[in-house]
Amino acid sequence: MRTKIVAGNWKMNKNSEETEDLLNELIDKLPEDKEVQIIVAPTFVNLASAVDHLEFTNITVAAQNMHQNENGAYTGEISADMLKSVGVNTVILGHSERRSIFHETDALIATKVDTALRHDMTVIFCFGEELKDRKDEQHFNVVENQLRDGLFHLEKEAWQDIILAYEPVWAIGTGETASPEQAQEMHAFIRETVRHTYGSEIAENVSILYGGSVKPDNAQEIFGKPDVDGGLIGGAALKADDFVAIVNAI
Ligand code: G3P
Repeated sequence: MRTKIVAGNWKMNKNSEETEDLLNELIDKLPEDKEVQIIVAPTFVNLASAVDHLEFTNITVAAQNMHQNENGAYTGEISADMLKSVGVNTVILGHSERRSIFHETDALIATKVDTALRHDMTVIFCFGEELKDRKDEQHFNVVENQLRDGLFHLEKEAWQDIILAYEPVWAIGTGETASPEQAQEMHAFIRETVRHTYGSEIAENVSILYGGSVKPDNAQEIFGKPDVDGGLIGGAALKADDFVAIVNAI
């Protein structure tokens, strides 16, 4: 049975006080009895305090990125060991903003995935096409290549620690959401692509999240699609009532 997941990617938002305020609201308002894994990804500086704050809740803390190396002269970077040392065991890798703004390649992201798995972390692997790819009807090829180049070197056993997050770049932060039918079509393709290489058990058990302008008013329809197992939420994760409404929509 696949795990239903709603994860909030806070990106570069919320200082320590604002983080505590939002977490307090989420603790107060999020459901405790729903069959859904809830994840929040504050910024690096707030991870340790978020882990402490959420210790006795059903909310998991994730990092938004990490470096592929163990340690060394990488000014400004954070290692897997540092994340684990503050109780963070989940990390988002390959987000489109890391790919486009910070020029992270499929090969680099694959190395980051290996490092995270080596440290027994769970990886939320992000991928998705640009608007031009879709207009050129290359979106399936692009998505398949991102999966193959980022993940398909992994052994079968590693997939127990992989969460897939399909995020069409043209829908991120734009208010332009993929239609539920578009999301389902791509998620079904992604699951078949995994099945072709890794077999049905892994394909059926991997959670595939949708990300890209998920809001309270569209979440239920998107999450209702058979191959959509939840969402990776950006802007709406920064408002407690919106994030709670999205969690309740699953
Ligand atoms: O990682 C999730 C994010 O990229 C989606 O952002 O604001 O479109 O929900 P948003």
